[in-house]
Amino acid sequence: VIELSLRPSTLKQYIGQHKAKENLAIFIEAAKMRDEPLDHVLLYGPPGLGKTTMASIIANEMGVQFRATSGPAIEKAGDLAAILSSLEAGDVLFIDEIHRLPRAVEEILYPAMEDFCLDIVIGTGPSARSVRLDLPPFTLVGATTRAGLLSAPLRDRFGVLSRLEFYNTEDLASIVERTALIFDVEIEPSAANEVALRSRGTPRIANRLLKRVRDISQVKGEDRITQETTHAALNQLQVDEKGLDHIDHKLLTTIMDQFRGGPVGLDTISATIGEESQTIEDVYEPYLLQIGFIQRTPRGRIVTPLAYAHFNREVPST
Ligand code: ADE
Repeated sequence: VIELSLRPSTLKQYIGQHKAKENLAIFIEAAKMRDEPLDHVLLYGPPGLGKTTMASIIANEMGVQFRATSGPAIEKAGDLAAILSSLEAGDVLFIDEIHRLPRAVEEILYPAMEDFCLDIVIGTGPSARSVRLDLPPFTLVGATTRAGLLSAPLRDRFGVLSRLEFYNTEDLASIVERTALIFDVEIEPSAANEVALRSRGTPRIANRLLKRVRDISQVKGEDRITQETTHAALNQLQVDEKGLDHIDHKLLTTIMDQFRGGPVGLDTISATIGEESQTIEDVYEPYLLQIGFIQRTPRGRIVTPLAYAHFNREVPST
């Protein structure tokens, strides 16, 4: 319940993502003027940037119900058919991790998205026949960590493609202050800034770090969260000055120590550090790429001089 109330419920309350917000506001207003459901929306970007929040805001702004599920949760075509046929006109259906929908399920989604109908096969063998069921018009909001993971026919059926970006420090600090207000705890602006700086551009991480810093501050008996406590708490939590945690460290130092800085293939890194390739690619790499600590090359990943400098190391001579 607290997690949910942390989420903003209107575009106005939503901090950051200025470009995505600005565009969505226009498309929502136009759809409402025409009294039509909003076109299908694909939200993509690294985890923790607010895709689910944005989807629920779209439903709220359109004044319709929000129904949420996820790609892996829908195993059979019938599961999706049941959800689709229970929708009311204009509803938002949110499918998280939509790139993980089984193929057979994806195929019944095409006519549903395009013509608001379901093609169902009744019976088997020679007596099998196909019937077409009408659906209420609805808006599909899909979320994925990378648009490239979607099949082309599915991607092409979204009218609005919206990429969420890492947040800047100022926006993250505002989110931390907003969350502190909801937690009913005071925080020094410089402390909020410190949490923001170490959150890898990601509100989910910022809010998680704030909770832990709040614990430490509370146990120390402070009446407000100070920068000094925040700094010490984050060090204690093994989050470094750039917001990198021990897995980021393992990833980078492994490439530096065992592969002379690369290039090294993703699967080799995965096997060496014991994290799934997909997790490395979707969760860890995007931020390391963003801050210029690694680069992707056709021959694999390389660690950059910037990353060597962060670890106070010399770049190996070739
Ligand atoms: N909490 C988490 N993400 C948020 C955002 N983008 N705006 C406001 N509050 C948030």
